[in-house]
Parts: sequence; C-alpha cells; structure tokens
Amino acid sequence: MLIAGNWKMFKGPAETAEFCVALRERTLPPAVDVVVCPPYVSLAVAVQLLAGTEVAVAAQNLHWEDEGAFTGEVSALMLRELGVYGAIVGHSERRQHFGETDETVARRARAALDAGLSVIACVGETEAEREAGDTEQVLRRQVSVLEADEQLVVAYEPVWAIGTGKTATPELAQEAHALIKSLLHVPVLYGGSVKPENAAELMAQPAVDGALVGGASLDVDSFIAICQAASR
Ligand code: PGA
Repeated sequence: MLIAGNWKMFKGPAETAEFCVALRERTLPPAVDVVVCPPYVSLAVAVQLLAGTEVAVAAQNLHWEDEGAFTGEVSALMLRELGVYGAIVGHSERRQHFGETDETVARRARAALDAGLSVIACVGETEAEREAGDTEQVLRRQVSVLEADEQLVVAYEPVWAIGTGKTATPELAQEAHALIKSLLHVPVLYGGSVKPENAAELMAQPAVDGALVGGASLDVDSFIAICQAASR
C-alpha cells in the first residue's frame, strides 16, 4: 500500500517544518509506503527533516527539460539534487487550470522516470464525462500515453470527487482501477475526498493499491489515520 499526501498550494516552509517534526514523532504503521508532496518551496525543508525516516518526499509537478528558458518550471534534475524521490504529474487541477494535456503529462512522466524519479500519474473523468457515459473512453485515452515502469504508479482521481466530499463508492473505484490495471501493469491509487472514515473501505478493494490524499493529508492525525486504515 502507498499513501501519498498531495498538499497542493498549502504549507510554506514553516508549516512544513512543523508537520514534519510532528510526523517524525509518530509511529508509522507497517506495510505502508508513505509519501508527502509539499509545494516546491517547501521540498528542501521536508527532505531535510524527514531524512532517515521511512517517509519519502515528492514534488507536485516537474518539467520535461533538464534546464532552459521555461519560466516558472522546475526540472527532474533539480528535484534530484534536492533529494526528492518522485513527483506527481497530470493532476486534474493542472489539466483544468494550467492547460496540461495527455501529451505534456506523458512528457513529464517520461522525463521524471528517465531521471530516476518515481512518478504518480493522475487520471480521472469529470462529472460531465461520467454522466455522458464516457468514463472508460477517457481513462483509456489518459492511460494510453503512459508506459509501464517499475517506478510508475497511476492515481485514479475522478474529478467530481476531488475536494468535494463526494467519494467514489468502493465498487465504482474498484471498477475503474480494474480497467486501468488491464491497460497498464502498475499499482493504482485512489484519490478524491479520501478521509479516515472512508479509507478502510476503499483500501479493501482488491484493485486499490493505496491513496492519493489531498485535504485530509494536511493534518498529521488524519494523515496517520489513513495510513493506519491502509495498513489493515
Ligand atoms: P482531496 O484531493 O483528497 O482533497 O479530494 C485529492 C487530490 O486532489 O489529490
């Protein structure tokens, strides 16, 4: 099981330090790989404070070039230099608000894997796509640009379940995960309003290999509770 906390645009270096110090004091449950994904500016402090612990630190995005005239972007090599272990790519917020496409997601994933970083590649349908009966087609399209790799994990995040409190039912998650796994032999995380209260049920589905947690990962207690649910 893998539990990754996607902090989005929350926690600067001071709050990150506070979180990491608190997390260090806690006993992590067995059989769960734990990852936190702070904003770029907080990666260094997280790497430093979590060094020597079981918790890995990943970024929320990265660019496919090593360096160049790409204002506002950060490369895989730069993340490697910081001691970061991996990166999320293709989060639906990046697709929705920052023009991310299947093609750019694939390029980011490839560059990260080539640089030796682990990747959590996000896929998922919008509410309109689900209502139109297009879920399978959307997932097939989004997954088709990714290549299986030992360092690659896919996160199934139905867009209508992100930050809305609307979680996919365990059956619905299972169905989507099974489809993704039939297309690509990689672990598949579920994401979208995962909380301590619903984590156990979701993690119990056979095709669910962990979770990508947004809001509920910002608090040490609820993050640990989700890790515990995944460990059972
Ligand atoms: P949420 O976000 O848990 O706050 O719904 C999940 C995500 O966007 O990765």
